[in-house]
Amino acid sequence: MAARRAASSILSRRPIPRPVAASSIGESALLGAGSARGWLPGALHRFSSAPAAAAAAATEEPIQPPVDVKYTKLLINGNFVDAASGRTFATVDPRTGDVIAHVAEGDAEDINRAVAAARRAFDEGPWPRMTAYERCRVLLRFADLIEQHAEEIAALETWDGGKTLEQTRGMEVPMVARYMRYYAGWADKIHGLVVPADGPHHVQVLHEPIGVAGQIIPWNFPLLMFAWKVGPALACGNAVVLKTAEQTPLSALFVASLLHEAGLPEGVLNVVSGFGPTAGAALCSHMGVDKLAFTGSTGTGKIVLELAARSNLKPVTLELGGKSPFIVMDDADVDQAVELAHRALFFNQVCRYVHDVLRAIALLATSFDSFLWFVLEQGQCCCAGSRTFVHERVYDEFVEKSKARALNRVVGDPFRRGVEQGPQIDGEQFKKILRYVQSGVDSGATLVAGGDRAGSRGFYIQPTVFADVKDEMKIAQEEIFGPVQTILKFSTVEEVVRRANDSPYGLAAGVFTQRLDAANTMARALRVGTVWVNTYDVFDAAVPFGGYKMSGVGREKGVYSLRNYLQTKAVVTPIKDAAWL
Ligand code: NAI
Ligand code: MG
Repeated sequence: MAARRAASSILSRRPIPRPVAASSIGESALLGAGSARGWLPGALHRFSSAPAAAAAAATEEPIQPPVDVKYTKLLINGNFVDAASGRTFATVDPRTGDVIAHVAEGDAEDINRAVAAARRAFDEGPWPRMTAYERCRVLLRFADLIEQHAEEIAALETWDGGKTLEQTRGMEVPMVARYMRYYAGWADKIHGLVVPADGPHHVQVLHEPIGVAGQIIPWNFPLLMFAWKVGPALACGNAVVLKTAEQTPLSALFVASLLHEAGLPEGVLNVVSGFGPTAGAALCSHMGVDKLAFTGSTGTGKIVLELAARSNLKPVTLELGGKSPFIVMDDADVDQAVELAHRALFFNQVCRYVHDVLRAIALLATSFDSFLWFVLEQGQCCCAGSRTFVHERVYDEFVEKSKARALNRVVGDPFRRGVEQGPQIDGEQFKKILRYVQSGVDSGATLVAGGDRAGSRGFYIQPTVFADVKDEMKIAQEEIFGPVQTILKFSTVEEVVRRANDSPYGLAAGVFTQRLDAANTMARALRVGTVWVNTYDVFDAAVPFGGYKMSGVGREKGVYSLRNYLQTKAVVTPIKDAAWL
């Protein structure tokens, strides 16, 4: 297999220096940046830029995670309980494939129990009836507890999902606290309207909580998707049944226990671990659920919508897949564009190192803190900039530098400091990504870096770059969801907009240019939910996120997320002897 041959030869190549941006930072600055937080054993092995050493990191003995697994049962009506069937399933460490813990496996019967608890909590319990300020304070206390337990939560998330500790501790856990405070702030600012009517009528428009929300989240951002969904639902006074992804059940159980410690009444949040076709489908079909929110693949999103329609027509928000274009114009600073395009694709496993480097060169000075956490996820990101369109005048230089950047990416144990990329989530995703790599090779794209597994165990994949990619190739059309960059060449703005829009997806896009007119033209012409200009993956709590076309239905975050969890009711009464109308 050509891809495998090309990739394994990388292991014996000489180190390639990091691009200018990276090498301009001294070792001592890097050590200083992380040492205050107490790095784990083995920390000083990091920062070899040699591909061989980088890959070797994946074969070293895994670092013992500094956390115990406390919660493995289902959370129903404020108690951790076994599944009705008594069954459990294994959640696995993606570094090794070893079992971390056996977790209660919820199915339709447990969903029934969880929905019954949520219904009681909503229909009869104190949560929707307490003042909005009291709800606000519960969410604020929860945010404080998240910060107090940040180390444990981050370690759990890294262990279960394989993303770097630098990402979970430095970015994701703080973002969860930030989102919770954002929604806490909304809780007591949700109010309706009094509208003038054509007659002697007093018309109030009330915004009521919608009821019991069913929420299904994926494995690529278990904590953040918890925050995006549970935060607005609770702020609006609803009750929730959350179904976590079977690959990553642990962190939601932990933080849900903290939410109860913060004062959440029993039954308001129920967490059911389990599989999609059983627990997930039961939640979608349940007649006692008033609203569904789902994040995951487009294929499963269609099933969710269908199950909702066939049961009680509950409204559904969907945040689905993408094939987001990242467009580099000919006026772009190529080094910066390479770095940004690299992170736009490989995100969901970078590290503080990159953060420091980028701060030091003052690249992307604005919105950087929101941006940086989205750079680390081994390409397992719905809005990954997975079609890198590069103007023909800078194309060759861009490809060369992207290759060098990918070959320097440090793959290894996500608990190890300086590692940029951990393992993929599981064997299924791992195999799927390697199948896409083979498809790229077979369809005639040029494999310029990577293309094989990294190390000999676990689910590590080499950072992979394809050049000379054509629109019709499978790797340019389908969501790979892995560390595989595909680079395509273009000549004009009109052409690249047409090609970028020629996709069933429409989640996000990146535009990299100094020309304001080109940026404005493209920002309006691209049929996507988010356009990042000269930045990428900025995920502020207040900014709406969601997709056009088959990337989804509705928006999350910001004021827009509240609409998903509120009903609108008009109350009309006659007015006698009105002084005014
Ligand atoms: P998935 O979409 O099947 O899983 C996401 C969630 O949906 C999980 O909690 C799962 O248990 C649940 N689910 C699965 N089948 C269901 C059903 N019939 N009814 C109700 N819930 C159901 O994604 P999967 O299989 O984990 O990954 C496959 C591909 O999906 C990935 O390779 C990637 O391309 C894409 N994906 C996209 C994500 C995104 O954020 N856009 C997140 C996760 C996966
Ligand atoms: Mg796991």
